[in-house]
Amino acid sequence: MSTKIITVANQKGGVGKTTTTINLSHGLALQGKKVLALDFDPQGHLAPALGLNQEMGTYYLLTMGRNTNQERKFIRQQVRHSGRDSLWIIPGNRDTRGAQVDMSTRERPISYIRETLEVFPQNGVDYILIDTSPSLGGLQERALWAADMVIIPTAMEYLSNRGVMDLINTLKELREKHQWRGGLLGVLPTFYDETTKQSQQSLQNLDYALGDQVLPLIHRATVLREAAADGLTIFEKAPGSRSLKEYAQIVKLILRSKM
Ligand SMILES: Nc1ncnc2c1ncn2[C@@H]1O[C@H](COP(=O)(O)OP(=O)(O)OP(=O)(O)O)[C@@H](O)[C@H]1O
Ligand SMILES: [Mg+2]
Repeated sequence: MSTKIITVANQKGGVGKTTTTINLSHGLALQGKKVLALDFDPQGHLAPALGLNQEMGTYYLLTMGRNTNQERKFIRQQVRHSGRDSLWIIPGNRDTRGAQVDMSTRERPISYIRETLEVFPQNGVDYILIDTSPSLGGLQERALWAADMVIIPTAMEYLSNRGVMDLINTLKELREKHQWRGGLLGVLPTFYDETTKQSQQSLQNLDYALGDQVLPLIHRATVLREAAADGLTIFEKAPGSRSLKEYAQIVKLILRSKM
């Protein structure tokens, strides 16, 4: 199997992108897949959510030359073992912003990220998951183009799906103008709370607009927040929890996907 790249994106903040990235990454690793998670957000939340330190690994990944063996080796040296079987990460920090600037001033091609990720040997990694920042820019666009599968988490606390629709349009544009080959695995409803009208209405709107592109939902659950604060995934923090089962179901969909 060649490496599959999964980009988790939504320009709206606080919708569960990082939570989704870490839990799907660990879920896939627990299924015996070799997983590398990348933090493309200058907030650098990915590493702490797994109990690791922020570092400028993403900066190096995105800015260093990759033509010589030595350069490629240097990039690979930014990979950190998460302390969990089969799960590695490249931590980011605020220096990732510098890489974003560098990318636009150098006018990197749309294929830049996809080509950069080729420094990781195909037989060494089954899945690369990319956590992105709450914005739309050159880095996000290139991370989307790099993806075989895109997942768009969206919180069921807001009635508007505009951000999601904008992102889906961006994907359409990438396909039409830039021959993007990947696909939308789906929109992932998060922070769902059936006791609020808001949540029910949001989900209905989403189902109406997107039909079978809507993935099985993730409920709002304090344990997900607590897990992140403790630097643990849901698989470590709360075995047997509903949140674990919900994320495990998305893991299954990824494993079955033909994308
Ligand atoms: N389903 C959920 N129920 C309750 N809390 C959640 C849930 N998902 C995520 N959280 C918590 O909500 C906060 C925001 O989640 P997260 O960091 O995953 O969002 P994000 O989209 O990555 O945010 P940003 O756009 O700032 O990167 C975190 O404290 C996280 O632990
Ligand atoms: Mg985040």
